[in-house]
Amino acid sequence: MPSQRHYSPADRLLMQADAALRTLLPFSGQPARPSPAIVKDEAELNDSETRHVAGLMRINHTGEVCAQALYQGQALTARLPQVRQAMERAADEEIDHLAWCEQRIRQLGSHTSVLNPLFYGLSFGIGASAGLISDRISLGFVAATEDQVCKHLDEHLGQLPANDEKSRAILLQMREDEAQHSTAALEAGGLRFPAPVKFGMSLVSKVMTKATYRI
Ligand SMILES: [Fe+2]
Ligand SMILES: [Fe+2]
Repeated sequence: MPSQRHYSPADRLLMQADAALRTLLPFSGQPARPSPAIVKDEAELNDSETRHVAGLMRINHTGEVCAQALYQGQALTARLPQVRQAMERAADEEIDHLAWCEQRIRQLGSHTSVLNPLFYGLSFGIGASAGLISDRISLGFVAATEDQVCKHLDEHLGQLPANDEKSRAILLQMREDEAQHSTAALEAGGLRFPAPVKFGMSLVSKVMTKATYRI
């Protein structure tokens, strides 16, 4: 087992800045797994279908930007080292999703959301605050967020044109990974959030999806 490294506050600040730039700069996140879309054929989509799928993938990409920020914020304030490491590992896994969504958006001739820096900042703050309250709340927040993401992915899978196998392959793999992240967070001791809190979170995510579908 490698010994655990100790980082100074300056080191941590630089690592945070590096993580933020890797999330927000185009094509800077290197996926560990190739995109599931690679092995699928490109579909013939008309203009309105292309715009719609690009809008959906832009929402999913921003969701992944938020996931990065949330995990990085939580890792910053997590109390237990194993929780911090779990958050950092989860953020690494989410880089795959971020990169796959971005690749697909570019293939569709579109762009990622201009609102990403804003959502990154907000999510980082929420993650860091949750981590400050307690690791249990922080892990519970991961579980509730991932459940929310799964709901979005289900809706998007239902809205994709039947022949868009590339986008479908990406969303299906993400759906599987996110469900696993939710289960892992609960198994690690995460609090099960009550329904009203989840409802509040779904309202916030509606604002995000409405805004990023177009810009
Ligand atoms: Fe993800
Ligand atoms: Fe996830």
